[in-house]
Amino acid sequence: MLQNRLEPVLDPRALARALSNKLLIDGTLVPAVSGRTFPVVNPATQERVADAAEGAAGDVDVAVKAAAKAQKSWAKLAARERGKLIQECGRLLNDHVEEIARLIALETGKALRTESRVEAGVFADILTFYGGLGSELKGESVPFKPGMLTLTQREPIGVVGTIIPWNVPLLLMALKIAPAMVAGNSVIVKSAEEAPLAVLRACQVMNQILPPGVLSILSGDGPQCGAPLVEHKGVGKVTFTGSVETGKLIYKMASAKLIPVTLELGGKSPMIVMNDADLDKAVDGAVIGMRFTRQGQSCTASSRIFVQDAIHDAFVAKLKAKVDAMKMGDPLEEGTDIGTIISQQQFDKVKSYIAFGEKAAGAVAHRCSALPRNKELERGFYVQPVIFTGISNDHKLAREEIFGPVTCVIKFKEYEDAIRQANDSDFGLAATIWTRDLKTALDATQRLEAGLVQVNQNLVVQANMSYGGIKQSGLGKEASLESMLEHFTQKKTIIINLN
Ligand code: NAI
Ligand code: MG
Repeated sequence: MLQNRLEPVLDPRALARALSNKLLIDGTLVPAVSGRTFPVVNPATQERVADAAEGAAGDVDVAVKAAAKAQKSWAKLAARERGKLIQECGRLLNDHVEEIARLIALETGKALRTESRVEAGVFADILTFYGGLGSELKGESVPFKPGMLTLTQREPIGVVGTIIPWNVPLLLMALKIAPAMVAGNSVIVKSAEEAPLAVLRACQVMNQILPPGVLSILSGDGPQCGAPLVEHKGVGKVTFTGSVETGKLIYKMASAKLIPVTLELGGKSPMIVMNDADLDKAVDGAVIGMRFTRQGQSCTASSRIFVQDAIHDAFVAKLKAKVDAMKMGDPLEEGTDIGTIISQQQFDKVKSYIAFGEKAAGAVAHRCSALPRNKELERGFYVQPVIFTGISNDHKLAREEIFGPVTCVIKFKEYEDAIRQANDSDFGLAATIWTRDLKTALDATQRLEAGLVQVNQNLVVQANMSYGGIKQSGLGKEASLESMLEHFTQKKTIIINLN
């Protein structure tokens, strides 16, 4: 347990400097064994805001040993007691929402009002939700034979390795660490290179309440720090969110040890808008679904929007007008709706997709909103949102995850054709259908190939709604009671002969 009660630090640059060169292992902030660091860059200006500690195999080993030790006593606490401590973390984090929100805006370029503050609040909320589920870690009694008391119990797995990306690092971390810890596991997080600070701060706050070693966090690069965590023999489960490519690598490493994995990977989520839909609601749903406020950097982004012919042009015009009205600017300013892309690498990737799309025959790139004009933001990774029309579902732009503010609106005539095209994708994370016809809506919920199908709405992750993809979008569910039971416990069968 860290000793002194931490006071919120509202100057994100001061906080970023204070968090430089630190891993959090066994309840203590320490530099990497190697002493090495890597720069953390504000994507709105390219200023270097911190130097994060560069963890590697040696740090992983120290963290796993501490976590294994801590887990033994953590598992001996009553499940509800563990839950209460996690809820207390949630309460304490409520006092830190603003500082964490500013820090995340600084390191990721996500706008404070529309994204970062929301995410910091949801982080605390997810902890509170899972903290209440301790007593749900139930087993079953099995009718085996008279005089044989037969039951199952759910036990923690041990040390859980958690690898997270940079797009919504706090939320995605919460979905993993909260159920893992409530179920009696200890956790080691490997943060994303681009966003190591806010998650470190959140874990530091939580370590004021948790016993040392129950929650550790390392920063460092994927192959040097993430891979040794997956491969460490003391780690009994890995949970990952990120790219399909890295997810497959992790699955392979985990299979060599025969340990369970949860993978939340990419998407190319379809949205089908029928002629009879409420057009304004559907347009709002596209703005939310495409996560334009997050520059489209979302695995569930509605990046393929199938619109029926009669309303296609009106839909595109209204969508463009809505996105035009959104303000791009300094992520830390309250008036800003849309911030920046996370990094130079992603910026180049998104730009190259847009350039490629523009070359397609018949394609039109409708550029929305306006780049900020501030001098201090001229080096920022700003990309104007683009709505493509005239791109077909078999074009690269409609098949690959762009992870930027780019969506394709694809015109269709017949419902059957929309369903066929929506399902014609390697991914299967989320899908929506917009219609006033109940029969069409119900039919679509049965036939759309996705882990989450919504009708006339496009909500983001909700506590207790299982969330996770099929096909190339991943393995396993998150955010629910089911996910805690299935992915962070193992079942033991016990037979007691009373004869
Ligand atoms: P990535 O999947 O490579 O990185 C995610 C996490 O995995 C990071 O913490 C990274 O350090 C770690 N990692 C990378 N290589 C690893 C390895 N060999 N062993 C263990 N851990 C490793 O994603 P990246 O490179 O940041 O983004 C590339 C693309 O991935 C994006 O353009 C987007 O399409 C997709 N992506 C999807 C996300 C989602 O929410 N499903 C989140 C982030 C990226
Ligand atoms: Mg990568």
